Amino acid sequence: MERIQSAIAKARAERARRASDVDGAPAVSATNADAWTTLTEVVPDPDHLRRNRIVTPDGGEAAIPFDLLRTRLLRAMIGHGWRRVAIVSPDAGSGKTTLCANLAYSLARQTDTRTVIAEMDMRRPALGAMLGVGSNVQFAEVLKGDGALTDHLLRHGTNLCLALNHAPVSNPSELLQGPNAPRVLDRMEKLLEPDIMLFDMPPLLRSDDTLAFLDKVDCALLIAEAEVTTRQQIDLCEQELARHSTVLGIVLNKLRHPAPAHGYGS
Ligand SMILES: Nc1ncnc2c1ncn2[C@@H]1O[C@H](COP(=O)(O)OP(=O)(O)OP(=O)(O)O)[C@@H](O)[C@H]1O
Ligand SMILES: [Mg+2]
Repeated sequence: MERIQSAIAKARAERARRASDVDGAPAVSATNADAWTTLTEVVPDPDHLRRNRIVTPDGGEAAIPFDLLRTRLLRAMIGHGWRRVAIVSPDAGSGKTTLCANLAYSLARQTDTRTVIAEMDMRRPALGAMLGVGSNVQFAEVLKGDGALTDHLLRHGTNLCLALNHAPVSNPSELLQGPNAPRVLDRMEKLLEPDIMLFDMPPLLRSDDTLAFLDKVDCALLIAEAEVTTRQQIDLCEQELARHSTVLGIVLNKLRHPAPAHGYGS
């Protein structure tokens, strides 16, 4: 854990150094705490989270697989100097949104790590409902250029920012590849200085929405559903992803008989 924290500190220092090289002026503060405090705070109901399989906010045995994934992901991303990761799957229902939320809360337990989780499934937004928050925000408005960024971002605690939509939009693909999307993401990065940004994507093989967005992320984590996702679907997705981004890894989700944790939990 200490090694990850020192790697995060080093990555921040390196980013600050690069920013000051580019601007010719001192970089912004390492902690843009003021920006975070202006975001509306939400406190999801723990029972609601548990009912929706969000098991990481308090740690414990159920959180272990997500904590392992968190650490591997962070290590790989910091190693490459990356911040943005898309969570993708070939088809619907493989558990992307659930995994993304669990990862976000697992990351949020590391109080020195700043995390953004953003819903990019604009056709069937589900993250807000899964968390039981966000009925009054529509991040898509910011992507359209019609809403102020900080009006549509929420925060949980001091280090987890949520970009959610309460309703679907009619032109998701155009929005995701429109000129505003990269600007909005850059502004979010500058304002919040996150260590990692998780993007919950729609199924890759159902529309061109995910493809339209991939050039804005550093890498992708591919989620396969045990006994459902086929080898051909994985191959096809890997090829598509490799054309536009880097596949960081594949997670086999919804295993009916996962390996036991051997009592190392809690
Ligand atoms: N590891 C898991 N084990 C069992 N069920 C799971 C697991 N992860 C998610 N689920 C369940 O699978 C269903 C689909 O999950 P989720 O909405 O996260 O998938 P998704 O990939 O985001 O779907 P979509 O492609 O429609 O956005 C939900 O009912 C969720 O509770
Ligand atoms: Mg989803």
